[in-house]
Amino acid sequence: MTTPVICFRPATEADVDRDGHRFEWLKPDGWRKGYRALVLEIEDPSTRRPLVIGVGRIGPNTVHPTRDLVEIEIDPQHRRRGFGTAFIRELGRYSSNPLSTKAMPGSERDLFVRSLGATTYLPVPMLRIDVAAERTGRWCSAVRAAGEGDAVSVHRWSELPREQLVDALTDRYLWQHASWSPTSSREVIRPEVGEAFFEETVREHSVAVLRSGRITALAELYDEPIGPHREGSFEAVDAAALHARNDVALSLAAMLEELRALGAVTADFDNHPTDPHAAPLLATLDRQEADPVHLVEIPNGLTAALRELE
Ligand SMILES: CC(C)(COP(=O)(O)OP(=O)(O)OC[C@H]1O[C@@H](n2cnc3c(N)ncnc32)[C@H](O)[C@@H]1OP(=O)(O)O)[C@@H](O)C(=O)NCCC(=O)NCCS
Repeated sequence: MTTPVICFRPATEADVDRDGHRFEWLKPDGWRKGYRALVLEIEDPSTRRPLVIGVGRIGPNTVHPTRDLVEIEIDPQHRRRGFGTAFIRELGRYSSNPLSTKAMPGSERDLFVRSLGATTYLPVPMLRIDVAAERTGRWCSAVRAAGEGDAVSVHRWSELPREQLVDALTDRYLWQHASWSPTSSREVIRPEVGEAFFEETVREHSVAVLRSGRITALAELYDEPIGPHREGSFEAVDAAALHARNDVALSLAAMLEELRALGAVTADFDNHPTDPHAAPLLATLDRQEADPVHLVEIPNGLTAALRELE
């Protein structure tokens, strides 16, 4: 088979109207500041007319500026012919940062990015806790008993000021990602992450632990999904604080008790394996790994040049 002539060009409104239904995501170039959206075209051998066979985009990550976000899709009838590889190379010309995406181990996406030399910068196994299990109830009681007499108070988020919660969420996010996905400044993170997380949380069933009026640990219940299977996350606001482990355990116990009262069956936690309190605490509960995802970096810029060095 002869190799067709290929052309990359910015996506247009006409592309969206004509080919939008053929791809998961297709928007015109410039749809978002700082982002590029391209299409990949070949000459259709049967009609001799241009045919879009792939779409892709690249742009900066406002929250984590060291890697750019990239996404491509090749029409299923044109896969395994090198077009995906060529598309990633083309998008990489718009940035000198490495590129990042997520992939489930063993998936088509994973095999593809590994062929480009991608490395995992964090595996994130979603951990599923059996909320309704008797042992989970005993676990919650044991945590409460261990903290008896402590000068802590446990509150629902709905009882606390929004600004205090947003500040705590921001502080926590900054240290939680510092070692493996450095963040932008606090001024950027507060609205982009602190406020966004606050809005996506069920405040009536999320928990904050306080000492001397300061929030020391947070456990949040996401607003999706609803029903018997829920999702959330939890950690300390200052991981190095003397009572951090106990306060984080208390935040989780209080939220699990809320979930038990709601009749929930399971709760998935998307905490990172690097979370110094959440990860070992989750390991003390009966849990299953669900939908593990790897955050991966595709070489680009200097990293790609070094990788290709003879
Ligand atoms: C992943 C995707 C972009 C690959 O496009 P493609 O044009 O087939 O990719 P390439 O031909 O350049 O493949 C390069 C290498 O990746 C690996 N690869 C790609 N698809 C694979 C598959 N389905 N199974 C096993 N390996 C695969 C192979 O090593 C392949 O080299 P080979 O064909 O010589 O064995 C395409 O399947 C797709 O659009 N999938 C849906 C969206 C998606 O996952 N996007 C990835 C965003 S980063």
